[in-house]
Amino acid sequence: MTFLELVRKRCSVRQYSDRTVEPEKMNYVLEAARLAPSAVNKQPWHMLLVESEEKRQLLQSCYNREWFKQAPLYLIVCGDHTESWKRADGKDHLDIDVAILTEHLCLAAAEQGLGTCWVCNFDAPRVKELFALPEHIEPIVLLPLGYPADESVFEGEKKRKALTEIYAHH
Ligand SMILES: Cc1cc2nc3c(=O)[nH]c(=O)nc-3n(C[C@H](O)[C@H](O)[C@H](O)COP(=O)(O)O)c2cc1C
Repeated sequence: MTFLELVRKRCSVRQYSDRTVEPEKMNYVLEAARLAPSAVNKQPWHMLLVESEEKRQLLQSCYNREWFKQAPLYLIVCGDHTESWKRADGKDHLDIDVAILTEHLCLAAAEQGLGTCWVCNFDAPRVKELFALPEHIEPIVLLPLGYPADESVFEGEKKRKALTEIYAHH
């Protein structure tokens, strides 16, 4: 698979099967995340794997969608505000770093035949409280992870702007 084929394959999966995710595949995906670049190489991130039924239910209460409940696993992708690089004008690069890490997770998962879906529209204060995250640790993305209910999801068409709308050559 070329990189562009992988980028086309990666998509938001919102229907999961209950097939177990092999630990080797999970380790592969986590290694791809570990190698992600970050501003000043600060690596200001932490990932929490949510797997037990009890913790899954807690997390599901923070993003109340039926499809979300189907995922066998979740990663809570967090940023550490005490570790992230701040530019001279104060701009905190935490979100950028965590976004790169998250997309590494998603692309590696897709390569392995696993589905993911970025979720940012969740109740972040509730995640912080239920998972006892310290003040400086911000949950930024919830990432459900598992085999798609239907593998043909990977062949779907992408709805994207034309290159002419987003790129100019001066
Ligand atoms: C930063 C970010 C936040 C997102 N948050 C959500 C979300 O809360 N819920 C959801 O269902 N999808 C969410 N998505 C998925 C987008 O809707 C999806 O990536 C977009 O529609 C393109 O579709 P594709 O991922 O299948 O290519 C998010 C994506 C990104 C990049």
